[in-house]
This record gives sequence, C-alpha cells and structure tokens, in this order.
Amino acid sequence: MTAPLLQAQDLRKTYGDSTVVNGVSFAIEPGECLGVIGPNGAGKTTTIRMCLGLTTPDGGSIHYQPVGGPLLQMPRDALAIKAEIGVVTQFDSLDPDFTCLENLRVFGRYFGLGARVMDERAPRLLEFAALTHKAHAKPGELSGGMKRRLSLARALVNEPRLLLLDEPTTGLDPQARHLMWERLQRLVQAGTSILLTTHFMDEAERLCSRLLVLDHGRKIAEGAPRALIAEHLEPEVVEVYGAGALALAQDAALQALAARTEVSGETVFFYTREARPLLDALLQHPHLRTLHRPANLEDLFLKLTGRQIREDG
Ligand SMILES: Nc1ncnc2c1ncn2[C@@H]1O[C@H](COP(=O)(O)OP(=O)(O)O)[C@@H](O)[C@H]1O
Ligand SMILES: [Mg+2]
Repeated sequence: MTAPLLQAQDLRKTYGDSTVVNGVSFAIEPGECLGVIGPNGAGKTTTIRMCLGLTTPDGGSIHYQPVGGPLLQMPRDALAIKAEIGVVTQFDSLDPDFTCLENLRVFGRYFGLGARVMDERAPRLLEFAALTHKAHAKPGELSGGMKRRLSLARALVNEPRLLLLDEPTTGLDPQARHLMWERLQRLVQAGTSILLTTHFMDEAERLCSRLLVLDHGRKIAEGAPRALIAEHLEPEVVEVYGAGALALAQDAALQALAARTEVSGETVFFYTREARPLLDALLQHPHLRTLHRPANLEDLFLKLTGRQIREDG
C-alpha cells in the first residue's frame, strides 16, 4: 500500500451559524481520479479551497505526502504543498489583459519558473490544450471550452502531481466536454492524481475511479461508481412519461412489480431487479412512452440527495 497523496481528516468549516463542511474525511491515492459530487451548496468548493489553503478549516487536518520527503501539513506547509498542486477554479480566473501565452508565462513566474523553462513549457502546454493557434489571443476572444482548457494548461505550469478541478466542464458544449475528458484521461494515464467536482454524472462515471457524495456538508457515500450503484439501487429502471403517466405511480399492480417507484417532474421511475413483467404490464398503456435502461449514477445521486431543486450556489 502506498501512502495517500493527500489526506483530509474530519474537515469542518462554519460560516456564521451554518456548518457548510461537516466532518468530511477522504484520501486521494497516487494516480487516481477522485470525483466529488453533490448538489449546489453541498460544500464541494469549500472543501477544495481548504485543500489549497485558501479557506482555513475550523477543524480537522490536511496532510500531503511529497515524493521522498516528510509529510506536509496545511496550513503550516502551504507554500510547499501548493508547489505540487494545480488548480482549475469553478469560475475562470484568467487575466483578461494578457494573451494565452502570457497568461501561462505570468503564472510560471508565481512558481519561480524562469523564462528559459517557460519558453519550452508554455508552447507545449498550449499544444496540450489545443490552443496553439490562439497563443496570441486574449481570453475574451476564446470560446468557453478554450477558456477552460487554458485554465487547465495554466494549472499544469508547475507540473503538479495533484490537480484540483472544480467543475471543469460546466457550461461547455458536448464537443468541448469530450475534448476536456480526453485531456484529463491523458493526465491520469501519465500518473497525475486528480480531484474533480462535477454535476455531470456521465463525467463522474467515465473519469473517476472513486466518488465521494457530499450533501449538506457531509459525506453521505463513497466508493467506485459501479459499486455505489450496485449497493444502493436495483439494477434496472423503467421510465414512463407522457400524458397520464403520473397516475401509474399510484397503480398498485405496477408498484407490486417494482422494488421502488419514484416520480420526478412528469416521469415515473420504476426501479426493479427484473423489468420484463413490468414492461409486459405497461403494454396496456400503449400511448405512454417507456424507456428501459440500467440504473445509473444519476439515479444514485437523486436517491441519495433527493429530487428537490437546490437554488444555492
Ligand atoms: N465565504 C463564504 N461565506 C459565507 N458562506 C459561504 C462562503 N463560501 C461558501 N459559503 C456557503 O457554504 C455553502 C457551501 O458552498 P460551496 O462549498 O461553494 O458549495 P458547492 O461548491 O458544493 O456548491 C453554501 O451554502 C455557500 O453559500
Ligand atoms: Mg462549487
């Protein structure tokens, strides 16, 4: 067993009388992509900020294990830890007055990287971000996807062992998301560890070997995506929607064929171990639309965190 790269123990943060991170513990193993999912306001960004030393915890500890050195501790060793971490914040923090190339070079200076190092590194990072053709453009001239990739390139300036990515693909179109995923996969394959928050369950399932589910500042589940689904859900889902579908949620005969019945908006969700009898029974309602699929991470998320909308965040 190798030591975790970063270990957070019993983290707590309180603002006024509201505890926004409440006893959260986790470890990031070397080379893994750990996902943090949870509704708006769950405490994801606050947790990341505490790992970076930007927000001081009211309780708990954060340790970081550098290669071949003694264990470092936040906030005591904040500088040494930050030298090994790259960050993409939830909202872009690029300098609008500098070109893409300059944004990288200026960031390099924060890490004490000389011009010679950056002469080699900056073009390589722009290429990694598929932004070579935008080297002399300013952030205002970039698409949303390009800005996020520039933020990622900038986070890589110090060749970090650990990347903290706060919603790196929010607001991107599908093509831009796929390009970002491909780049993140490359980084993981090259041995970089990643902690990533996301609202996209397909992203979490695709990229992350392990997930933390946060809600109201607490960790409510942890595990590999497939294992979490198997642990908490029946394997098959039948969704029924269309005019009159909601009445089926009250239909005792159908309910008896499902382990669990849920309503969200205008759709009824039947969760079951064996969908065939349910699908046969639904043939009596040919005007309704049905969708039979395996249970997924979104089902898990909604089961654990509820279906009501969180406006916060
Ligand atoms: N600096 C702050 N002052 C007061 N409340 C804050 C501050 N930062 C975050 N919060 C509150 O803490 C809660 C968690 O926020 P955050 O960590 O941003 O959640 P998430 O990233 O999961 O959406 C929210 O209710 C938010 O309003
Ligand atoms: Mg956030």
